[in-house]
Amino acid sequence: MTTELAGLTALVTGGASGIGLATARLLADRGADVAVLDLDPSGVPAPLRGFTADVSDDESVRRAVEAAAEILGGIDILVNNAGIGAAGTVEDNPDAQWHSVLDVNVLGVVRTTRAALPHLRRSAHAAIVNTCSIAATAGLPQRALYSASKGAVLSLTLAMAADHVREGIRVNCVNPGTVDTPWVGRLLGAAADPAAERAALEARQPTGRLVSADQVAASIAYLASPAAGSTTGTALAVDGGMAGLRLRPEPKP
Ligand SMILES: NC(=O)c1ccc[n+]([C@@H]2O[C@H](COP(=O)([O-])OP(=O)(O)OC[C@H]3O[C@@H](n4cnc5c(N)ncnc54)[C@H](O)[C@@H]3O)[C@@H](O)[C@H]2O)c1
Repeated sequence: MTTELAGLTALVTGGASGIGLATARLLADRGADVAVLDLDPSGVPAPLRGFTADVSDDESVRRAVEAAAEILGGIDILVNNAGIGAAGTVEDNPDAQWHSVLDVNVLGVVRTTRAALPHLRRSAHAAIVNTCSIAATAGLPQRALYSASKGAVLSLTLAMAADHVREGIRVNCVNPGTVDTPWVGRLLGAAADPAAERAALEARQPTGRLVSADQVAASIAYLASPAAGSTTGTALAVDGGMAGLRLRPEPKP
């Protein structure tokens, strides 16, 4: 166990499940004092501190961020991870669903960052890491709305990095491929043939397997750490090679 984050404080949105929970645990293992902000943080294990908030509700975000900052004694690291999915082509999702997914996935990042910035400005090691997606950089079928939301998160990451670099605040994102989390478990559970759907998702990644939540957490923890002090305005792919590799078909035996 390393203690490279000892003395630092962190806030992780969507930290009650999947990538967010793995990240909150890892940051705590490395010595940070960690608060989790989620719709229902009741199952979050100690030493993580749970705060209830809906990132689509500005008032609840401001209240939770202030409460967390007071208990932690400041905020050095913000992980904007809360997000929701949507399936369909551009024909399929009604306007109300476009508004609600963009509200959580894009404006959620805006609201939490806005509330946390006064605290981040007081930190000597301020870092923001956004959970983006391979969907921001590759065209995936049936993901028009979700991809648009993550494309916005990628652009927002770059713009925020430029706006705040002179304040000593670094901003980066991770772009996971398909990660084995409760979210993907729900998708597989809803598929006509869950085993075939899982095999198709695994085959889409050059490594031939899904990404683990712990692997994404490790990348987020790196970008959040003082060790990444010269890294800002980047997107780190954690996607089993999906974004960068073009493989030939496997030779037949
Ligand atoms: N699982 C994947 O394959 C994958 C791939 C790429 C990117 N991502 C991104 O990773 C992030 C986390 O996904 P996950 O797979 O761990 O999902 P998950 O469903 O396991 O966890 C998401 C968490 O976010 C919380 N949340 C949702 N809406 C919220 C809101 N309005 N306010 C506060 N909290 C809210 C949920 O309660 C849950 O605890 C998302 O941003 C997602 O887009 C996931």
